[in-house]
Amino acid sequence: MPQPSGERNRTGLIVGYAAISAVAWTLAVGAAIAWNWHHEKEAAYAAATVDARAQFAKDVIYRRWNADHGGVYVPITAETQPNPYLSMVDNRDIETTAGQQLTLINPAYMTRQVHELGFITEHLHGHITSLNPIRPLNKPDDWERRALETLEAGGTEVTSIEPIHNELHLRFMGSLITEESCLKCHAQQGYQVGQVRGGISVSVPLSPYLLIAQGNGLRMLISYSVLWLLGLLGLFAGALWMVQQIRRLSQAEHQLREVAARSAQLDTIRQTTATLAHEINNPLTGIIANLQSAREAGAPAVLNSEILDETLRAAYRIRDAVKKLGAVQDLAFRSYTEKTNIIDIHGQPGERDMG
Ligand code: HEC
Repeated sequence: MPQPSGERNRTGLIVGYAAISAVAWTLAVGAAIAWNWHHEKEAAYAAATVDARAQFAKDVIYRRWNADHGGVYVPITAETQPNPYLSMVDNRDIETTAGQQLTLINPAYMTRQVHELGFITEHLHGHITSLNPIRPLNKPDDWERRALETLEAGGTEVTSIEPIHNELHLRFMGSLITEESCLKCHAQQGYQVGQVRGGISVSVPLSPYLLIAQGNGLRMLISYSVLWLLGLLGLFAGALWMVQQIRRLSQAEHQLREVAARSAQLDTIRQTTATLAHEINNPLTGIIANLQSAREAGAPAVLNSEILDETLRAAYRIRDAVKKLGAVQDLAFRSYTEKTNIIDIHGQPGERDMG
């Protein structure tokens, strides 16, 4: 069946809306995935920051323990030589009553050694530094210098993501504030309590945290993809259902139009028949009556009874045809000439009742 243009328009509109909805749905799901992935990465950075802060806090605490004792004495070994920068302190090197050589370890020296141990065994990277280092080797790198400047300007901590040896790291810098216990060795540099003496930088490789984020991201991606697919399927099914409804509606409309056209034709036929009945029946009744009385009275010589009978039959036939035409209820046609159809009045329901 050819599609009426109204149906085509409405179907096109629905397909258009469905396509726009599918694009909007895809964009929405895509945005949700991007937003969630962004937060997964932020969470990974946050977790790395928490770990870096914990490492820094631990450093500060054991350093404070050391400073509170004004430094601690340890045996002199090949690795632990007397600190040349402590020469101004009295009793840097002492000897026990048993004759063992001990040297004073200041907090920074201890921190350095602990960081070296940590780096070798745990790959934890820490560095004690200052914008005004006593020991030149403690000088900051570029990132540390900028971080220390921020801290001296009043910041509490500095973090950023930086590549180190081609691997992404979270770099963290916390400040070491001059306390009463520090003055024993640092007062001569002019430091006062509360000033930033320097800082400890900690760098944490991001890969373990990103690995967790990637696992979460993959699960998120799978569930969002399933959601996206279900949404598309729903959209497709809805559009299909609507297109079918429209097709059904158009078919019903089409049938309704056909019925209306037929009933209009029937009306015309009824009017025509009524006109015919009026215009033919009256004179015909006269003709029939006259013929009948002529027949009863005995036909004159020119009208032998055979001709009379034939004429009467013809008149009856006209009367019946007009009657049947008046009783037409549905339009059934049969061909009359090559070009014209006529109404089949003999095939009408109830036709038999009308002899
Ligand atoms: C027993 C002496 C002593 C005490 C106490 C001490 N320091 Fe130091 N500190 C030093 C020496 C010596 C150095 C430099 C050499 C080194 O790295 O060991 C140093 C180095 C540092 C550095 C590294 C930068 C640099 O100047 O080379 C920082 C930061 C620092 N100290 C902060 C502090 C703070 C904060 C305190 C108090 C909590 C403190 N120190 C207590 C002796 C001390």
